[in-house]
Amino acid sequence: MSKEIRNLLLLILLLLTALPALARGPDVAPVVNVEYQDECGVCHFAYQPGLLPMDSWQKVMAGLGDHFGENAELDADMVKRLSEYLLRNAADDAAYPRSRKIMRSLGTERPLRISHVPYFKAKHDEIPARLVQGNDKVRSWSNCTACHTRAAKGSYSEDEVVISGYGRWDD
Ligand code: HEC
Ligand code: HEC
Repeated sequence: MSKEIRNLLLLILLLLTALPALARGPDVAPVVNVEYQDECGVCHFAYQPGLLPMDSWQKVMAGLGDHFGENAELDADMVKRLSEYLLRNAADDAAYPRSRKIMRSLGTERPLRISHVPYFKAKHDEIPARLVQGNDKVRSWSNCTACHTRAAKGSYSEDEVVISGYGRWDD
């Protein structure tokens, strides 16, 4: 086989493997707000607004003084601006597929945590605690980026999961 043909075949193969990911697009709208990224992405990954409904974000933003045992207080102006961003992009009216599924699973529940959403729990219920709480590289369900390699892009597809300190997940 000539070198040109081999390169061409390799290119086609590459395109074919990349295609599903390109066609799929993100599961939730990626974060584009720099202020949100800076303020809410210091202690943990800046969770996409489309992962929780408005009422949940409102509760989170009203309780920053005691935020899961930490002080995450911000000045009133910043709270207002970040809240506006969160509410505008919350799961309630988002057209993205995971936001729709999150809303459907919630019913009237409005939890403070993404990891308490029924859809989230159903998707993760087969993963044993030793790979999460018992795993120094993960520690918590809140640590999305320790397992979802493209979470920052708003992509949570199961074939992109690599559990830190463990490896790929096959169910
Ligand atoms: C001072 C550190 C700190 C800052 C700043 C911070 N957080 Fe957090 N956040 C935490 C901790 C600690 C947890 C609990 C993590 C755990 O349980 O492992 C948490 C958890 C969360 C969760 C729940 C995650 C889950 O389990 O589903 C949300 C939602 C959240 N934070 C939103 C925000 C938002 C919005 C901001 C910005 C206004 C913010 N956080 C800023 C420390 C912080
Ligand atoms: C310990 C690793 C781990 C952590 C931490 C984790 N996930 Fe996952 N997640 C997985 C695995 C593994 C799957 C695939 C489960 C299956 O289908 O068997 C998954 C599936 C998902 C799915 C469904 C994907 C699909 O293709 O159906 C979504 C959405 C998701 N996770 C979001 C999140 C979010 C948001 C966070 C953080 C709040 C998070 N995950 C934290 C491992 C993790």
